[in-house]
Amino acid sequence: MVQIIRASDMGFCMGVRRAVQIMESEASPERPVFSVGEIVHNPHVVRALERSGVVQLPGPDEVEGDIGKATAERVKAGRVAITAHGVGERVVRELEASGLEIIDTTCPIVTRAQRYGQKFAREGWHVLIYGDPGHKEVRGILGWTFGQDGEPGATVVPQSDYESLRRLVEEFPGGFPNKIGVMAQTTHKMEDFARFVANLMLLRRDFNFELHVVNTLCHATTGQQEAAAALAKEVDVMIVVGGKKSANTRHLREVAEEQGTRAYHIEGPEELQADWFAGVERIGLTAGASTPDFSVDAVEARIRELVGA
Ligand code: F3S
Repeated sequence: MVQIIRASDMGFCMGVRRAVQIMESEASPERPVFSVGEIVHNPHVVRALERSGVVQLPGPDEVEGDIGKATAERVKAGRVAITAHGVGERVVRELEASGLEIIDTTCPIVTRAQRYGQKFAREGWHVLIYGDPGHKEVRGILGWTFGQDGEPGATVVPQSDYESLRRLVEEFPGGFPNKIGVMAQTTHKMEDFARFVANLMLLRRDFNFELHVVNTLCHATTGQQEAAAALAKEVDVMIVVGGKKSANTRHLREVAEEQGTRAYHIEGPEELQADWFAGVERIGLTAGASTPDFSVDAVEARIRELVGA
């Protein structure tokens, strides 16, 4: 009999649950709330919210110029919501100036990271953000990190290995700053961030800079990663459910594969393939922080059909 085992910690995190609850409680089909950009990286959640009256508008990355004006042209009057990943200061100010009512659902852990970035930059530290330069949350944090002179005060660094960081230090335009503040995209993996920091510390032997590190990682995702790793050791194959654009879901798959276990990242049950389960006895199931329970339930039900469990 094939066993299907769920990770002990998985699915909707506090930040996404909170954002979805706020938007659902504020919106109705008669009185919609307009979300500025994608609400969460999960198309199933987005569709469910649309039915409750949460209408998704283009976000800061899709609009050229003043997003407040562009949004106000579409939404003559109404309420606009900032999503859980947060946005930069310019976007907040432009939305405020548009006269639209703002509902801010930024995850408090993301807000904390934004505040650290802002504080570092204002105090004259150049901020290194260990993260994915294209990620919405990272671009939001960047949008708060400006020095006293109003100049951008941060660099996003996607690699954590020694050679890449050495190149960064050696080739930094205008010379590497001597005060470096370090933080991470909230959903990055703990061990990768630890390597990033350790390598910067090694580089201090050859280069002269001060280092101030804050841990901006989110416990919700580190807990889920630990649970995924523990489960992956126990099973023959792991199924990871979550939006394809969701960084933390992708990391869960990587964590599972690092244990030597085959892992598949899917958005919904229709992607499951029967041959993934040929000859397996134990199947592990986990889900990213923006994956609702109903998606996980649907995936489990389909696995049961495929394996006859
Ligand atoms: Fe917030 Fe962590 Fe979720 S940063 S949005 S609680 S993954």
